[in-house]
Amino acid sequence: MSTHHAGTSLRGRVAIVTGASAGIGEAIARSFHAQGASLVLNARRAERLKAVGDSLPGATCVAGDAAELSVIGSMLDGAKAAFGREADLVVVNAGRGLNGSVITSDTQAWEEMVRTNVLGAARLIREAGVRMTAASNGRSGADVLVAPRDIIVIGSIVGRHVSPFSSMYGGTKFAVHGMVEGVRRELAPKGVRVSLIAPGFVVSEFQGVAGYDPKWVDDVFQRIGPPLVPDDVARTVSFIASQPAGVHVGDIVIRPTRQDYP
Ligand SMILES: NC(=O)c1ccc[n+]([C@@H]2O[C@H](COP(=O)([O-])OP(=O)(O)OC[C@H]3O[C@@H](n4cnc5c(N)ncnc54)[C@H](OP(=O)(O)O)[C@@H]3O)[C@@H](O)[C@H]2O)c1
Repeated sequence: MSTHHAGTSLRGRVAIVTGASAGIGEAIARSFHAQGASLVLNARRAERLKAVGDSLPGATCVAGDAAELSVIGSMLDGAKAAFGREADLVVVNAGRGLNGSVITSDTQAWEEMVRTNVLGAARLIREAGVRMTAASNGRSGADVLVAPRDIIVIGSIVGRHVSPFSSMYGGTKFAVHGMVEGVRRELAPKGVRVSLIAPGFVVSEFQGVAGYDPKWVDDVFQRIGPPLVPDDVARTVSFIASQPAGVHVGDIVIRPTRQDYP
């Protein structure tokens, strides 16, 4: 478990974090909580999610597949039911990697990965975007900037720089990156900030779930390390979310300093 300095920069915000049972999502949840945000947390492993939720007083948990429309509806409705208003800070984080390329990766995992990383992200961005833009209905010009509203998406460095070693996973993140920038252009005039964070190597359960060879991971971490930790990404998310409503830091790459590629 990590430590955070208590603060109030996100006090009053209602946040949803997917993939909050582990890794980057859990770190974001802990950091948001320390900064005073109200939380709705999601992941599939209900027990793991509950353990995180129980350690963050006031958090609401919605267990289930973040690519499922009914689960997305439960998160958004759950925020309103628990905190009396729509979420204004949605972090699209749930996702998985996959060892190998289009040529070499396990095709059995393709559908789940595309469903989670691409369709799940698109569905949540859509549902959150529709609700968030409703807050600016009837307003025009700078009046749409009533309060910060954020959709923050965790992409990947392999969604920006082509890597022959992870072309299937990278392909899902290229799709996500394209969507994020398109939706940013669509929703910016309505005062909704749609942001992308593209991390390099972060040590988490990601490597095991993706099926990477542990020896290969050790070698990479030796060569480029120390790798990022989930808190490094969480800090970046908070930096974006805590800007004034009229300021959008929309696109951040974060790598271990010694990571040269990709
Ligand atoms: N680690 C890295 O090096 C790295 C680098 C760049 C980008 N990223 C991206 O960062 C995000 C988080 O990765 P991580 O490193 O934190 O990995 P992680 O430690 O494996 O955590 C992934 C989280 O997502 C949840 N999850 C996976 N599929 C889900 C689904 N269908 N519905 C709901 N929750 C789901 C997992 O929980 P359950 O199993 O309980 O559902 C878990 O909480 C991913 O989008 C990943 O692509 C990671």
